[in-house]
Amino acid sequence: MTIAYLNGDYVPLEDAKISPMDRGFLFGDGIYEVIPSYGGKTIGTDLHMIRFENGLREIGIEIPWSRAELTEIFDALLEQNGNGNLGIYLQVTRGVTMKRNHAFPQQPKPTLFAYTFDIPEPDNGNRETVTQWRVTSGQDLRWQRCHIKSTSLLGNVLHMMEGVGSGAGEIILFDAEDNLTEAAACNVFVVTNGVVRTPQLDNHKLAGVTRDMALAILREHSDLEVREEPISRQEVMAADEVWLSSSTKELEPVVSIDGEAVGAGKPGPVWSQAQALFAAHRFDQFG
Ligand SMILES: Cc1ncc(COP(=O)(O)O)c(C=O)c1O
Repeated sequence: MTIAYLNGDYVPLEDAKISPMDRGFLFGDGIYEVIPSYGGKTIGTDLHMIRFENGLREIGIEIPWSRAELTEIFDALLEQNGNGNLGIYLQVTRGVTMKRNHAFPQQPKPTLFAYTFDIPEPDNGNRETVTQWRVTSGQDLRWQRCHIKSTSLLGNVLHMMEGVGSGAGEIILFDAEDNLTEAAACNVFVVTNGVVRTPQLDNHKLAGVTRDMALAILREHSDLEVREEPISRQEVMAADEVWLSSSTKELEPVVSIDGEAVGAGKPGPVWSQAQALFAAHRFDQFG
């Protein structure tokens, strides 16, 4: 049984209930985070909290919970859910109002919800056992505020279903100029002639914490050239390696896009080096 946190109470997940008049339900008016933890220890909490606070500030939600109080809630949830390999899902909405109105309510009382879910044992860069992604591609049709980790995820959901509908587990997205943005629920890296690249951050991509951690780890612990810059569709399709990054996957290799092999069609050596470094430093740099 999963224990969740809702507005001050720890309750079995199936008993956690909110009003249908919550603006999260009515408008997707909220911000969320997913923080990975292994054996009761979270990774990248400060980076996740900074992004969370930035998102709340950007959409004008003031929450009564301090960072220290939120961290206490995370620890309590991990403990009550067995301290295994757990993702912590955290969501704040603008709360419940009895009159449905797009405009913000005068005195909002935000809703805070958190629960944990099982995540896989992280990989150490093993090319034989890692999950290999076969993805599709498409034009990024989401909104112009993808840097906000908003619970309004219908754009991402519909893109993910394009991927799922064509038998793929993810979709890599390109903007109107055919430059890479990200995937439906991940950031994307490409490797060409040993150079690791990922698109520069702007309002068309989420600032992934895993992306940030991977860039920092590679810059500090490898001789690889690492660049943040525009990447065209042609460059993605001709890359030697393509990786996805997210908090519950860390770095995972893409082996085909739209049925075309990426490089040799199997996890590449630079991915293996990068994920091994990620595994070696996730706790000492970001624990
Ligand atoms: C659209 C999108 N981009 C990127 C990411 C990766 O972010 P992070 O590494 O912080 O999990 C996610 C994670 O859910 C996402 O939904």
